[in-house]
Amino acid sequence: MNTEIKRVAGFRIWDSRGRPTIEVEVILANGKIGRGVAPSGASRGSREAVDLRDGGPRDGGFGVECAVRNVNEIIGPALLGLDAREQVAVDHRLCELDPTPTKATLGGNALIATSLATLLAAAGSAGLPLWRYLAGAQAVRMPLPQIQIFGGGAHAGRRVDVQDFLVMPIGAESFDEALSICADIYRVAGELMAHRGRRFGVADEGGWWPAFDSNEDALKTLTESINVAGHGGRAMIALDIAASEFGRDGRYRLGLEAREFDTEGWLAQLCEWIERYPILSVEDPVAEDDDHGMRAFTAAMGQRIQIIGDDYLVSNAHRVGQAILDGACNAALLKPNQVGTISETFAAFEQAQSANWGTVVSARSGESEDVVITHLAIGWNAGQLKVGSFARSERMAKWNEGLRIERQSAGITGFAGRHALPLAINRWL
Ligand code: PGA
Ligand code: ZN
Repeated sequence: MNTEIKRVAGFRIWDSRGRPTIEVEVILANGKIGRGVAPSGASRGSREAVDLRDGGPRDGGFGVECAVRNVNEIIGPALLGLDAREQVAVDHRLCELDPTPTKATLGGNALIATSLATLLAAAGSAGLPLWRYLAGAQAVRMPLPQIQIFGGGAHAGRRVDVQDFLVMPIGAESFDEALSICADIYRVAGELMAHRGRRFGVADEGGWWPAFDSNEDALKTLTESINVAGHGGRAMIALDIAASEFGRDGRYRLGLEAREFDTEGWLAQLCEWIERYPILSVEDPVAEDDDHGMRAFTAAMGQRIQIIGDDYLVSNAHRVGQAILDGACNAALLKPNQVGTISETFAAFEQAQSANWGTVVSARSGESEDVVITHLAIGWNAGQLKVGSFARSERMAKWNEGLRIERQSAGITGFAGRHALPLAINRWL
């Protein structure tokens, strides 16, 4: 089977926000085609790979003509003849083509779509589903989901400051049961909010678009929803604070409540919420440049809850390594488009795993029907998966793909559940 890359072509398609995005097809000499799609974030870390857009008046400035051209004219010709099974070599070539630290010349979107398309073409050549191709002989477990119940921050017109209010069904015995617990909580939360006139609609990732008076109101309502749904103790709360969106230079301002904190005050507020509500995981508790805040929070809470770096780590192995030395978090969010190639994402993943951190493979707020992210979480045996809420088909496609893999696949050895949490937390449970 000749797995040499024969043709690479970029196209414009549309994402879940109705914005253009880039799709790349990698065609091999054996006729296999891999198709990769770039997702896109709304609350992006400043060190992320650049999401290259045309700007100007057309498509609201979100056009991807320049990124498509980069694929067709620069990236494609440079990959011809490489073996698609040599993912590291292909990704290395991509990094050589754009050696800027944030892939600003060719665009992280052009690069990740190409990198993923190569991976999928290689898996297709092996005649294997992607998760199985990645897992090889390794036994893997289905990931514990993090499912958004309310959207906030940049995903819901900043109607609340905290970006994601999610649940983690740690008491489930299977992926199937985990989804069903989350579905109950999502439904009950929607009913409670509608009854109280607090439900405006659905936010970018499918969570309810809330109309609460305070961030704490959202926490109260989520806790109540878990209990009313009958899942108290079986489902815990995860928060993605995405604090870079409202914190700068050591000041944190909650727009909804017109309250402002310094780092210490803000951390004290978070700790108070953790005392009062069943919170098991907190992502980006402070702004991406607040190293002191990350270390202080992890020192105070790192044995009790999962502390995830997203904007803080940007799926970068070097930053994960530094954060391990600094004790700045105990889990990594892994978003392939944040760093630009699949091999670099995997390097960050391995680095995090080597420290017994939690590893959460994550989609973006701008997505497509593509389900590759589910395969990465399972194939890498990452333990946790976060792809938004329990509505909107670009989200459900990814959860449903997990169900198909769980029910069809002999190579799955159960459900990661609470064992997916960082080692320090498992001791506490
Ligand atoms: P984004 O947000 O995809 O809009 O950047 C997701 C997250 O912060 O986890
Ligand atoms: Zn985040």
